[in-house]
Amino acid sequence: MRIVLSSPLTDQEYYLKALAKFCPYADIRLWDAVKETSWQAEYALVWKPDNGLFLHQKELKAIFNLGAGIDALEKLPDLPKDTPLYKLRDAGMGQWMLEYILYGMIHFGRHFDRYQQYQSERRWQPELTTSLQEKSIGILGLGPLGQFVGDQLRQLGYNVAGWSRSAKKELSFDQFNGYENLDHFLSRSHFLVNLLPAKDETYHLLSEDRLMSLPRGAVVISVGRGSVIDEHALLVQLQTRHLRGALLDVFEHEPLSKEHPFWQQDNIVMTPHMAAPTQYEDAIKQILADILDIELDQGYRFL
Ligand code: GLV
Repeated sequence: MRIVLSSPLTDQEYYLKALAKFCPYADIRLWDAVKETSWQAEYALVWKPDNGLFLHQKELKAIFNLGAGIDALEKLPDLPKDTPLYKLRDAGMGQWMLEYILYGMIHFGRHFDRYQQYQSERRWQPELTTSLQEKSIGILGLGPLGQFVGDQLRQLGYNVAGWSRSAKKELSFDQFNGYENLDHFLSRSHFLVNLLPAKDETYHLLSEDRLMSLPRGAVVISVGRGSVIDEHALLVQLQTRHLRGALLDVFEHEPLSKEHPFWQQDNIVMTPHMAAPTQYEDAIKQILADILDIELDQGYRFL
């Protein structure tokens, strides 16, 4: 089996180690080492590769995106349209997402931001609050990660609902589907979790009007893609205190520019797209299982 790896923004050594551990007999090469040669891979494992890879690798049976979101890959002009493209479905990221979301709920829902301020003033000031279990969590986007976190939050006893364009089967929590039900879904989401991908249809889906449909005091936790939210509208809703706070990991333009007003906004907590880093070994295990399926489907006896 011949694999080409290109993930120039991450430490590729970790992927190489995981590949060597699980498939020691495969011929695995870094794109940089083969780009001047005629060597052809059967599978490409990529995260934000340069477009040249697809211009030169003409025998790919499948392309594996080393992340959940394929927006960066889809922008490459030479991405072959007829080669199957796989993305990471959970691959260990779900648990990280879950912890991140819980942090946002607790940070704002239990007023840790205020206590941090009081501590700096040596002020003893209890804050009255309602239990988080009396609030509703809305998961916007019900792909594998949305389904996982919704299910886990439900099992922890929270009141969870999800929204997606079309209905998903057999969820352990309520779901709302279609744009006609989006406003109703938003109006009951005290904690709104954005887990939607970047697509034309999701661009600024959370517009000013939609952010205003959230209940007063709602918290936005954004971990899918930043372009889903109209950032200016979000800022205004945070400034007017219609929204209690926002925990943001993703932004319309990354890295966030130094001039961006979010840096100064007291009720925003931000992280640099690190809510759920790719788990190297889990990712490679998922990809190898997918490759096995592809090979078996094609009648190969194996590797
Ligand atoms: C990260 O943003 C991913 O798409 O996995």
